[in-house]
Amino acid sequence: MSITQTMYTDRIAKLVQLSRERHVFSFTRFDWVDDISEADWWVSPELLTIYGTPYYEQATEAQRKLLSKWECINLFSLNVTGEQELISGVAELLHTPMLKEANDYLHHFIDEENQHMWYFAKFCENYAGKIYGNKKLQITTLKLDPRLAVLVRFAQIFIFEEVGHYYNLKIALDDRVHPFIREINEAHRNDESRHITFGRILLARLAEGITEDYPPEVLQTISNHLRKYVQVTIESLYNPTMYRDAGFASGIAVRSALLSHPVRQEFHTRELLKKVLALLGDTNLIQKETSFEPDYQS
Ligand SMILES: [Fe+2]
Ligand SMILES: [Fe+2]
Repeated sequence: MSITQTMYTDRIAKLVQLSRERHVFSFTRFDWVDDISEADWWVSPELLTIYGTPYYEQATEAQRKLLSKWECINLFSLNVTGEQELISGVAELLHTPMLKEANDYLHHFIDEENQHMWYFAKFCENYAGKIYGNKKLQITTLKLDPRLAVLVRFAQIFIFEEVGHYYNLKIALDDRVHPFIREINEAHRNDESRHITFGRILLARLAEGITEDYPPEVLQTISNHLRKYVQVTIESLYNPTMYRDAGFASGIAVRSALLSHPVRQEFHTRELLKKVLALLGDTNLIQKETSFEPDYQS
């Protein structure tokens, strides 16, 4: 996708307008329920990380529902830690010349993410008494010029947001899931659809011409780095503590078995990551010629 400067500024102006028209004040918008039963669905059963494997087949409905609680807490915790990282990363880029056309929008971006982080954290504390920690890949050691640094940062944000959005959309529409959880997913997806549109525009605009502007080895380094980021993002969905909280004997063993299961790998590449890999391939941020073969052993 080629984006001219006029298209770029027009689309960002439209996103600013939408953020202002649809601005909500999340701190007072929800009627927080007293509690949510472990006999409810917290995420759709088909979205469970055990889906399509013997772990799912062997579980009772009660066990699947209990796991759905902890998978929901894991997804929401990943939002909290991911949004925290995102806000600090975007804040560092405010007022940089390369992003001057996007500067107004970046303020809305931070404002919206701050509200999301607040309600996801409150949800986890209210209904589970904790937020799961998440070790993010330390990949800031790459020596990059300002353009590549911005591209890598927003590519990471795009990966994180697209994966989260996949779950938000499905859960918001699933009437088996507890209505309050659906409402949170619905609220989040409304803001996130704009963030993802922004990410697509920004990456397409800034990545235009990178194959002429940089030598192949630099682009290969970026590609390797982003593949690693995708892999870590996928692995974070399989939190060992979540399996232990749901009553599995060994969280680590469940996680390794699931990450190497062909049905799960197929789901990642063909479904969950489909849009992410397409955009990163189209913009030459990941190399197209090699297929995505994640190394889950590392
Ligand atoms: Fe968010
Ligand atoms: Fe977002």
